[in-house]
Amino acid sequence: MTSNLAYDVQKIRADFPILSREVYGKPLVFLDSAASAQKPRQVISAMVDVMENDYANVHRGAHYLSQVATDHFESAREKVARFINATEDEVIFTRGGTESMNLVASCFGQAHLKGGDQVVTSVMEHHANIVPWQMLEGSKGIEVLFVPVDERGVLDMAAFEALLGPKVKLVSLAHVSNVLGTVNPVEDIIALAHSKGIPVMLDGCQGITHGSVDVKALDVDFYVFSGHKLYGPSGIGVLYGKKGLLNSMPPYQGGGDMIETVTLEGTTFKEAPHRFEAGTPAIVEAIGLGAAIDYVSEVGMDAIAAHETLLLEQAMAKLSAIEGMQLIGTAPNKVSVLSFNVEGIHPLDIATVLDRQGVAVRVGQHCAEPLIKAMGYEATVRASFGMYNTLEEVDKLVAGVEKAKKMFGA
Ligand SMILES: Cc1ncc(COP(=O)(O)O)c(C=O)c1O
Repeated sequence: MTSNLAYDVQKIRADFPILSREVYGKPLVFLDSAASAQKPRQVISAMVDVMENDYANVHRGAHYLSQVATDHFESAREKVARFINATEDEVIFTRGGTESMNLVASCFGQAHLKGGDQVVTSVMEHHANIVPWQMLEGSKGIEVLFVPVDERGVLDMAAFEALLGPKVKLVSLAHVSNVLGTVNPVEDIIALAHSKGIPVMLDGCQGITHGSVDVKALDVDFYVFSGHKLYGPSGIGVLYGKKGLLNSMPPYQGGGDMIETVTLEGTTFKEAPHRFEAGTPAIVEAIGLGAAIDYVSEVGMDAIAAHETLLLEQAMAKLSAIEGMQLIGTAPNKVSVLSFNVEGIHPLDIATVLDRQGVAVRVGQHCAEPLIKAMGYEATVRASFGMYNTLEEVDKLVAGVEKAKKMFGA
């Protein structure tokens, strides 16, 4: 196996138990990490360990185990805060990126949006950054504006700037596209929006996994991501928000743990983060996310990014040599998410042939139907590479596509 990578990938692979399994009698080649990444033993063990030894509800009991569980849970929040250079009171645990964005749409919407206001998002967004705003169009009469993308999958920055009129109250854009791999120029986006007094939310569900994120350096107002794409468990996500902004918003849900006092006449609420965390949180999952952050931090986000870039470059070079190959998303600044089609072959046929070779890819619209249509397709095949993939696996992807071409090609 190859060793001229940013780190010893075989050592990394040994930490991920699932990667040694076979499918259809072939070694698993998992190229669907953008949908959900696999988990290292360190994450699995941290979760099992807390359930076997330290489990109780958090923030409630005066008893020993509740204190220990609360310490683990709050230490996970501390790890998230350190990972993105935030403070702990700016880190809210949610169920995932989708819930984080719905929380902002709902709570920022209640506090700061009225009929006629505009929210700017883009054509390249995941549905989770489109639908919550469209729901506010229905309920509040706001208007959603979409920044277009060009044929390479690059955001049209001139159009973005032109959209930033006086009615725009929020910009909400992907840090990285889950279909194209495009890394958006988020520093420029934030500077432009801030120059007009408009806050910015970044959907970091893909951005967080492919390099370091510093919310303070970015000066971003909200940043959201999911635990399960960052080698942690599902059921846990993060909403980072600037403290003042968070505390200017009403709670998302009512219940235990988010109140100061409740009387029959009314309730007062805690400050962030607790005001947004009603009820028993995903205790074990938060601790698992903390362990995932420890894991990727130890390997190093820059090393992970360098490793994945090598895989991406090799995959793009080899796939583009295949006749009829249509690479979808060729932005100059791009991470290891690779959408493609082969002329004359249905993407589902390609994905099925790959699957039978043990190569797991995603096929379809990737929860980004407007983008797929804007790029001129009905569906694409998407291979996404994570920290544990190898150059040999890139070759298996290419061989699988060639096999599909032989079977289905004209
Ligand atoms: C860019 C982007 N935004 C949002 C989401 C939604 O994340 P989740 O399903 O974890 O809530 C995804 C998941 O694919 C994504 O890739």
